[in-house]
Amino acid sequence: MEPSTFAWTSLVVFMCTSLATADIYFHIPRGSNNRLNEKSAARKNANRMFDSQNNNRGGYNVGDSGSAASTNETQQYRMKYFQSDSSAAGKSVLTVEWTNQHGCGGNEDSNPQKQNCILVLQYACQDDVDDARGQADTFRNGKTTQTAKYSKPGSLTETKSQKDNRKSGDVSLDKGLHESWDWYNKCYTRQRNKGLFTADQNLKANNGLGYSSAIYTRQNPNGNRYGYECPEERDYYPYWHPTMWKDIAVMAENASMCSYYTSKSFNVQPYGECLENKGWSKWRTQEECQSNSGTWILKHNYLEKATQYKNQGSCEQQGNKYVWGVPSDAAGNELQCLVKLSAPDCFEAPWSRSNHLGNGVDGKALTYDWTLPYFPSGKTQRCVLRIRYNISTDDYDPHHTDHTKNNDILTFSPVQQNPYIDIGGRSSALRLAINTAQYGRVFQDRSHVFQLRPRPAGLQGARIFNLNVRGKRGNIVQVYPAVEYDFAPTRLEIKEGDLVHIQWTGSNSHNNGNPAGDGQAGDAGEGTSGTDRNNMVEILDPNDNYPVPFEQSTMWDTPVIKWIHHGKTGVQPKDLAVDLASAGYYRCIRKTECQAQGSIVSSFAVDQKPKLQSQLNNAPASYEGVMLRFKKGTHHYMCTRNNNFTNRSQKGTIVVK
Ligand SMILES: *[C@@H]1O[C@H](CO)[C@@H](O)[C@H](O)[C@H]1NC(C)=O
Ligand SMILES: *[C@@H]1O[C@H](CO)[C@@H](O)[C@H](O)[C@H]1NC(C)=O
Ligand SMILES: *[C@@H]1O[C@H](CO)[C@@H](O)[C@H](O)[C@H]1NC(C)=O
Ligand SMILES: *[C@@H]1O[C@H](CO)[C@@H](O)[C@H](O)[C@H]1NC(C)=O
Ligand SMILES: *[C@@H]1O[C@H](CO)[C@@H](O)[C@H](O)[C@H]1NC(C)=O
Repeated sequence: MEPSTFAWTSLVVFMCTSLATADIYFHIPRGSNNRLNEKSAARKNANRMFDSQNNNRGGYNVGDSGSAASTNETQQYRMKYFQSDSSAAGKSVLTVEWTNQHGCGGNEDSNPQKQNCILVLQYACQDDVDDARGQADTFRNGKTTQTAKYSKPGSLTETKSQKDNRKSGDVSLDKGLHESWDWYNKCYTRQRNKGLFTADQNLKANNGLGYSSAIYTRQNPNGNRYGYECPEERDYYPYWHPTMWKDIAVMAENASMCSYYTSKSFNVQPYGECLENKGWSKWRTQEECQSNSGTWILKHNYLEKATQYKNQGSCEQQGNKYVWGVPSDAAGNELQCLVKLSAPDCFEAPWSRSNHLGNGVDGKALTYDWTLPYFPSGKTQRCVLRIRYNISTDDYDPHHTDHTKNNDILTFSPVQQNPYIDIGGRSSALRLAINTAQYGRVFQDRSHVFQLRPRPAGLQGARIFNLNVRGKRGNIVQVYPAVEYDFAPTRLEIKEGDLVHIQWTGSNSHNNGNPAGDGQAGDAGEGTSGTDRNNMVEILDPNDNYPVPFEQSTMWDTPVIKWIHHGKTGVQPKDLAVDLASAGYYRCIRKTECQAQGSIVSSFAVDQKPKLQSQLNNAPASYEGVMLRFKKGTHHYMCTRNNNFTNRSQKGTIVVK
């Protein structure tokens, strides 16, 4: 929905409200839309990490661990999901939730759509490290809203050490980072794919290098930079060079497209790139690469490196779950043992309504149940999730229109910038709102950094469902296009024996102040301005707004506690109830009774700690949570702070069958 910058001077210069106003926003996990911790309703910097093309108001701030905003990255809260395990039954499910605005999916006859649409869900992970040991390429949210730096190469004959100097001069650990500096540098220096359809857009050439590279696309003709994202990779899927993104699911225009996506996915299909000593190359194809004395390397995507298998023989002996190859992020051409990925899940995109940022069929939120990966190394992973929403029209065949239809002296592009059309007779012509940079357009959102942790002992072989909170403070017009608070999934239906990991994150700087962009500033809600807080107390019926008196609450009596954030055993039902009701501020009731859990826990006893503020103001914004196995039955719960009848209902239900 942002006005885009036109690459050319049109006779009629005006600010275009483009036809293709669409957007995509993650709600579970919270999508950043490039926000970090700004107090304003509009994000500060749309170029911070990636090109979302979304409205400036979308997105959620990074979570805080404590009860105050902090500029220390270690004080940010990273969601901590437990991985699946090695058994077939031990799946961990995260129900990813989003809204997309221009509609998607659906059968042409019974549910007509006004555009073609593809949704691509991907993630990237690396071994987690202590923040103090973060390196140049470590994924991070950063501490400032500024974009990471990039300095251009001086010339085509740069040396490797000159390249490395540019990198170390540019990268700083206080800026957010998903893609590596080298990834962008390769994109900046690699010639763009000239076979692509660019309509009548005029794609620029790199200053200094004298050719047009992969940072210039039809959607980004001026080569604007967004973090270290590569614009060509961003706009096209499946991409034809190695990337760090691992595919989870492709929600295609129709199921017949799936064999194409699943066979071309980098998860299963190695892609090549040209290797030169300096660490980047102008050459895009194998032929150009080799005839200019480069080395063409086929690289493999992978789940993680299996460093314990040091040679091809021992790697291949492990069976077909492993491959001996050059990993996607290798600097050179060294072969390693890699844990393979499987092809992405692929199916027809779920139906949603055009021009409506909302729900899908039957009023249900758009969701995808992501089965979290299992990392055989047992290492905690640091990860990012990404969704792209790709819409196109039938004004040209999106899959079979290429550079031969680009505007030049002989050819006219099948779509033209804001064309005038004749409506007959001698009437004046009418102008269509067509921005060819956005005809066929990709939107994106990404999560903040989160962890995928190996399961602690005792959780093997069971299914884990993640129960989280979505939304941020403010009323509906203040938070839009983010959403108001609720539990997610609001109604969780599971089987006896399944585990529920309750966890949430919130920010202390969701003030939604000015600038407010296209909407209203303000953060109507309970408790300290700008703060998100959540808790869980039992209610008997979803229509109730009064919780069950603490003494009579039974929801927390029957579940088996399989794991709790403070790691202690011997937690009693009342301790669990007070932990969830206070967002972990208290961990037990009386010091004398909870001594069994150890001295650390007893200092968190209700009779030891300063009083919890009645609206949870002094409780932490995020709650690492608890893993419970509920008995058969139906349980209802609510949040005491945010639930306010007539204004906002923050309630949930767990059904165990
Ligand atoms: C950031 O927070 C961590 C964890 O609380 C602490 O160890 C570290 O000293 C803090 N760093 C700064 C610069 O305050
Ligand atoms: C978007 O769709 C177009 C076809 O309309 C395709 O060429 C392109 O690769 C797709 N990009 C992404 C990121 O899905
Ligand atoms: C599926 O979608 C593709 C791409 O839009 C289109 O070319 C094809 O005709 C569609 N197939 C069916 C069976 O609808
Ligand atoms: C509750 O609704 C009123 C009026 O409908 C509105 O002014 C107020 O901001 C709302 N409060 C919250 C927290 O949404
Ligand atoms: C609940 O919402 C109403 C309506 O907007 C508001 O006046 C009231 O202050 C809210 N309740 C609390 C406890 O904040």
